[in-house]
Amino acid sequence: MAQGFVEKIEKAPEEISYDDVLICPRYSEISPSEVDTKSPFSRSISLTTPIVSSPMDSVTEHLLAIGIACMGGLGIIHKNLSIADQVEEVAKVKRWQSGKIVNPQMLRPNQTIGEARRRMEHEGISGFLVVNSGGKLVGLLTRRDFDYDPLGDGVLIGDVMTSKDEGKLILADEQTTMEQAQEILWKHRIEKLPIVDADFRPKGLFTKKDIRKRRQFPNATHDAHGRLCVGAAVGATGDFLERAKALVEAGVDVIVVDASLGHTKNVGEAVRALKKLPEIKDVVAGNIVTADAARFLMDAGADGLRVGIGPGSICTTRMVTGYGRPQLSAVADVADAAGGIVPVIADGGIKVSGDIVKAFAGGADSIMIGNLLARTDESAGDIVQRGSQRYKKYRGMGSKAVLEAGGDRYPKKSVPEGEEGLVPCAGPLADVFRQLEGGLRQAMGGLGCRMIEELRSKTFFIRITPAGLQESHVHDIWLETEPPPNFRNWNQ
Ligand code: XMP
Repeated sequence: MAQGFVEKIEKAPEEISYDDVLICPRYSEISPSEVDTKSPFSRSISLTTPIVSSPMDSVTEHLLAIGIACMGGLGIIHKNLSIADQVEEVAKVKRWQSGKIVNPQMLRPNQTIGEARRRMEHEGISGFLVVNSGGKLVGLLTRRDFDYDPLGDGVLIGDVMTSKDEGKLILADEQTTMEQAQEILWKHRIEKLPIVDADFRPKGLFTKKDIRKRRQFPNATHDAHGRLCVGAAVGATGDFLERAKALVEAGVDVIVVDASLGHTKNVGEAVRALKKLPEIKDVVAGNIVTADAARFLMDAGADGLRVGIGPGSICTTRMVTGYGRPQLSAVADVADAAGGIVPVIADGGIKVSGDIVKAFAGGADSIMIGNLLARTDESAGDIVQRGSQRYKKYRGMGSKAVLEAGGDRYPKKSVPEGEEGLVPCAGPLADVFRQLEGGLRQAMGGLGCRMIEELRSKTFFIRITPAGLQESHVHDIWLETEPPPNFRNWNQ
C-alpha cells in the first residue's frame, strides 16, 4: 500500500450535497406572502428574487434575460458570440424598458419627416425631441404627427411637430418623479413627457409605455436609470478586455468571468485587469469550491463568487478529471470565507425548488440555474420533437460541440467536460420562475424565516440515509397524469 495512503483516507472528509440533507422543520407564525426574498448577486446588484440564469448558449440571450429581470432575477448573456452580437444582446435588454430615457433622440425643425421616418424604422425609435440650433426644446415629433396625413418625405419637421410655442406641449421639470410623471401622462392622455431644465434644455423623457411596464413588473431588477439589469460573460484570456469594454459601453451591469476553474493565475489577473477599467461596475468570478479560492478572488477584487465544480446537470468534469466537491459543502465553505462581504452564487445542480432553499440555508446569496431555465420558451436552445413530446436542446459549455465551435470556458484543445442533450419544454419562463420562487417562499414561511439570511442563521440540516431520500421522493404509486409543474420523476 502506498505510503501515507491510510492516513490520507482517514483524513478525507465526507462532504454533502443537496440530496444528502433536509432542513429540520421549526416553529413558524409567518405565511409565504410575508417573506422577503431579497438578496444580492454581487456587491452592487440586489435581486428581489435571487435566481440567475447561466451564461450558456442554450440558455441566456436577450429574451430570457428580459423575462428573468422583469421577475426580479437576472440573466447573464453567454459569450459564444462575436463581441458585436453579445453587445447587441445586452443592448436589447437595456432598450426594453427605460424608467426615464436619459439621452432622448433629437432632431432639428429644419430636418425632414423622411429622415425621422428612416430613423424610426431602422433604430426602433418612436419619437424625437425637436431642438433649435441653441439646443433648446421647441417641439416633440411622434408618428401621430404625420402618420394620419399622407405627408411626403420632404415636409419639414418644424411644420408638423407638436410645438412648444403653440402651448400644446406638456413638459416636466428635472425634479419630476416617476410617479408624478405617470399622473401627468394619464391626466393629459399623452404618450411622451419631455423633461427640461429652466432654460428648456432637454434633460430626459418619460414614456407611457415604459411606465406601464414598470407597473406590470413591480419586482423587476432595475439600474439607476430604470432600465432592466443584465450581466454578460467574458473569458479570462484572449479578447476579454476588449469585450468587457464594449459591454460596459452598452450598459451591462455586471461582468462575469466565465471559467471552469477560478482559482487560477489567469482568472486572478483577469479580475484585476477588469476592475481597472473605467466605468466598470461589478465583476463576478469563478468557478470555485474552497475557502482558499474565495480569498484569492476576493484579493483580486471580485464582487461576487460563483461556486460549483461539477454539480451541473450536463457536467462531466468530475468524471473526466476526478476533481470537484459536493455542492452544498462547497457553498458553505466559500460562504464562510466570504464572510458576508462578497456575495456567493450557488451555481449548478438545482433540480427542484427545495435545492434552492438548501443552498440558501447553506450560505448562498443567490442561485444560478441552467437546466430548469433551458426548458422555457424564452431560452436560447432550439426546439426538437421526439414522438409527441417537444424538447429543448441543452448543452454544456464544455461539451464537444461547443469546444469544436471555439468556446473558451474550458482550456483550449481540452477534452470535453460536458454533455449535450434534451430537456422537456416547460412553457413560459414566468410559470417556471413562479414555481421556483413559490417553493422558496413556501419554505421560508414554513420555516419561520422572513428574510433569506434567516434561512442560514435560524435553520439546521439533518443528514439523511438513502432510505430517507427514497422516502422523500414519490413512491409506491404509478403516475399516470402529467407531472406537476415543479417536480418530475425521471426514473419512471
Ligand atoms: P445546471 O445543473 O443548472 O448547471 O444544468 C448549470 C451550470 O453548469 C456549469 N456548466 C458546466 N459544467 N461542464 C461542466 O462541468 C460543462 O460543459 C458546463 N457547462 C456549464 C455552469 O456553471 C452552469 O451555470
